[in-house]
Amino acid sequence: MERPVALLRRVDHEREGFALSLWREDWTDVYPGLFRYSIILTSKGRERVLFRTNTYEYAPTVPLGAEEVATRRLEDVERHLHSFPDSILEEEGDGMATGEPDITVDVLVIQGSPRPGGNCCILSEWAEEMARSLGKSVKVLFPADMTIRPCIGCYQCYNFGRCTFEDDMADVIGYLKSCRLLVVCSPVYTNTVPGGLKHLIDRCQAYHASRLLEGGPSGQKGIIISVAGRTGDEHFRCVVGVLKAFMMNLGIETLPSLLFGGMDRTRDISKQEGVRMQVEEAVMGAFSVHED
Ligand SMILES: Cc1cc2nc3c(=O)[nH]c(=O)nc-3n(C[C@H](O)[C@H](O)[C@H](O)COP(=O)(O)O)c2cc1C
Repeated sequence: MERPVALLRRVDHEREGFALSLWREDWTDVYPGLFRYSIILTSKGRERVLFRTNTYEYAPTVPLGAEEVATRRLEDVERHLHSFPDSILEEEGDGMATGEPDITVDVLVIQGSPRPGGNCCILSEWAEEMARSLGKSVKVLFPADMTIRPCIGCYQCYNFGRCTFEDDMADVIGYLKSCRLLVVCSPVYTNTVPGGLKHLIDRCQAYHASRLLEGGPSGQKGIIISVAGRTGDEHFRCVVGVLKAFMMNLGIETLPSLLFGGMDRTRDISKQEGVRMQVEEAVMGAFSVHED
């Protein structure tokens, strides 16, 4: 989508062979009041983004705003270029984390329980086995065992579509981009998802930003599988809301959820009749929808 762009300032240095410009892009279709500022260096016919900032980066108590910061940075860069032209003209990169690796997988299973060998582990394995029996490649991720820092709400991902943190999230996003089917298995923890899974979900804000900036895959499907200790659909309300919002933010269409309550009594989901078949049918159904 084309967004309105305004040139705020341009400084030409013909003798030195470079030009600096400051641009403002209107992203208010994404979030109210979201504007992105970019300082572009043009040199030897090449354009390079030297700096980006956006209005959402500035918390209420921060005394400066994005436009003022971008304008001051432009002046700093200009001064610096006069004194040390080679240092910037030959520099590469934007100082953000490197992008995700190139990954190919048909099915991504996110096993959200931190309990090894628990009910979500069993459900994930059933989903994995079914997908493999259909000839699909599968990756199972365990957020509780991964290094995933919590999102700090810096909003810098809206500058370049990437997070400032370098950790296991690059792999997660690589798998999310590649998969045709996402299966998330989560226990109910205090009415919502466990912390490790929530960290993963929040850090997908960077992937959400990159989808807005560069686009992303389409036609992906998602299945939510959840277990709770107590009996009754009301215990799943929050988990299902969180996981549906997660998938919706990433453009993933949710298929009907599989919810299994009463685990405090049942203890072991493999003893509950018909559950395995429900998981297998859901995975199979996702592919028959795809391949019709
Ligand atoms: C920290 C914690 C919080 C929990 N909170 C809830 C809850 O709010 N509602 C509920 O029905 N069950 C709750 N449970 C029970 C789990 O959902 C249940 O034991 C589930 O089977 C665990 O899944 P797992 O075997 O895959 O780890 C909680 C369990 C733990 C350890």
